[in-house]
Amino acid sequence: GEEPPKPLTVKVEVEEVDDGKKKVAIFFGTQTGTAEGFAKALADEAKARYEKATFKVIDLDDYAADDDEYEVKMKKEGIAFFFLATYGDGEPTDNAARFYKWITEGKERGIWLQNLQYAVFGLGNRQYEHFNKVAKIVDEIISDQGIKSDASFYLVFLWKTTCSRGSRDDDQCIEDDFSAWKEQVWPELDQLLRDEDDDSGASTPYTAAVPEYRVVLIDPLGVPRLDKNLSLANGHAVYDIHHPCRSNVAVRRELHTPASDRSCIHLEFDIAATGLSYETGDHVGVYTENSVDVVEEAEKLLGLSPETLFSIHADKEDGTPLSGASLPPPFPSPCTLRYALSRYADLLNSPKKAALVALAAHASDPVEAARLRFLASPAGKDEYSQWIVASQRSLLEVMAEFPSAKPSLGVFFAAVSPRLQPRYYSISSSPRMSPSRIHVTCALVHEKMPTGRIHRGICSTWMKNSVPLEESQDCSWAPIFVRQSNFKLPSDSSVPIVMIGPGTGLAPFRGFLQERLALKECGEKLGTALLFFGCRNRKMDFIYEDELNKYTESGALSELILAFSREGPAKEYVQHKMAEKVRPSGTSSPPMAATSYVCGDAKGMARDVHRVLHTIAREQGSLDSSKAESFVKSLQMEGRYLRDVW
Ligand code: 2AM
Repeated sequence: GEEPPKPLTVKVEVEEVDDGKKKVAIFFGTQTGTAEGFAKALADEAKARYEKATFKVIDLDDYAADDDEYEVKMKKEGIAFFFLATYGDGEPTDNAARFYKWITEGKERGIWLQNLQYAVFGLGNRQYEHFNKVAKIVDEIISDQGIKSDASFYLVFLWKTTCSRGSRDDDQCIEDDFSAWKEQVWPELDQLLRDEDDDSGASTPYTAAVPEYRVVLIDPLGVPRLDKNLSLANGHAVYDIHHPCRSNVAVRRELHTPASDRSCIHLEFDIAATGLSYETGDHVGVYTENSVDVVEEAEKLLGLSPETLFSIHADKEDGTPLSGASLPPPFPSPCTLRYALSRYADLLNSPKKAALVALAAHASDPVEAARLRFLASPAGKDEYSQWIVASQRSLLEVMAEFPSAKPSLGVFFAAVSPRLQPRYYSISSSPRMSPSRIHVTCALVHEKMPTGRIHRGICSTWMKNSVPLEESQDCSWAPIFVRQSNFKLPSDSSVPIVMIGPGTGLAPFRGFLQERLALKECGEKLGTALLFFGCRNRKMDFIYEDELNKYTESGALSELILAFSREGPAKEYVQHKMAEKVRPSGTSSPPMAATSYVCGDAKGMARDVHRVLHTIAREQGSLDSSKAESFVKSLQMEGRYLRDVW
């Protein structure tokens, strides 16, 4: 290997703005808000510590309109933090996608960021193959640019655990990592931002004030009846995560047979005349609603009536921003508490430490307040990870343990409950077949938590209970938006494909097959298509069985290969079938000549399938293990092995 470039030790002048303050940019690439939350938390704390600097929290997407602007603006930055989440198959978040493309394509540009002092904070899940890939790559590229003095560089890779799938691994707490990382950051920033003679607050531990929205209670008798179909028309021509499209549930149907003890829902969102469009293989983001029992519990714990009517503001009455905290824009109001809790409050995830601090500040019982503070403190770290994180205790469960803690609505929505995030699904239709419908295939999440609580997935439960338009004019609706993916059929439809999608991993392939059928009907020549599908039992959870058989009859699908895991004495999984499929003949239509697609569970299935692909490559190509690995990597690079995994 080559010698790594030696770090230069050059004193960097940090750009000063007009008022003599040093400028620090805090960029975030966020999907569910965690990276953004950390970016803001860092900014809030830093503002309180360094009076002689300004801190700006910046959405990477809003930063620049095009590559040139990224280049011009980035070059002027003196100190920058990057909070970058990696999700899916090593991909950047939507709002970091353009930046990521720009910076990775700029490798050949020569030295252009040599003035930047920076830190990268990666958010990812260690269980994934491409753990923190985005953060690592951005770090590599910037550090290759030159200056990397010890004082200017800190990099911590984190482990964010998405607990929703019930993984019981030794879950670590990302917040603890964040706190630990900040402790490393302050001394470094002190050097960059404090004058020699200024020791103000250098060693004082910082305690953030609890942020709070301004909430105005409204007398319900004083206002005309609120339209319960509150319009979400947003005046935007393009729908996105911030501007979703209100869409009715047109069709809802159970895909499992009554013999199954689980549930999988086929749902169709009506997008006719909305202007919303999608492509085969895209994802749909769905803003969902908490179920009534969960909301009632929250109302009880807050000690407020569901009819409580209020408006919520992030500014003062005169329109100036509330001081201190950088709160996200509040949700549309006035609305009732019932409505706000249903649509905007995340009540079932575990509370963050900041939420415990906020609850403590509003606990009338001093014993409860002390215990809450302890849980949020460094000394209570182990207890927090045990009692809250590992046991997946929900916010409501925690609140129930501290009944004297009754935060005001302004505090509750600002500091206790995070905003309910959209859920993403692989779209299971093709616009060529269903231009005015977005189909979703969703397994009901229903699992027992360590505390004994039955966790019902918020969105899947909502889907299961939704009322479709075909049953009632007063049907269910949800704000939705489309997220583009690169999980796409080959542009040349004669290229053979192999699809591997057990369970709801079938979803995007149903879209693929609709698309292929439509193409065939237009006279296009189709390459071979194999589909490996797996489920427990043919008589219970073989979803879309009739449709799949029709696709085989019509030739949209060349062969359907099934693995039933709970029919015979031994588990049959898709990857076993794949191995069988190539072994006997050894030569006939090897899957590696095709474009391969895998969709479904990342940690179990997709990882095992990856191993099998690797073995197939090794055996078929008579490659040694490392050559086989680089062969599989090259397939990935060339877009001939694509994954849509979660
Ligand atoms: P199981 O639940 O009987 O273990 C869809 O969920 C199908 O994927 C089920 O038949 C399930 O089998 C199977 N499955 C579970 N883990 C898997 C893995 N690691 N690889 C492939 N299939 C798996």
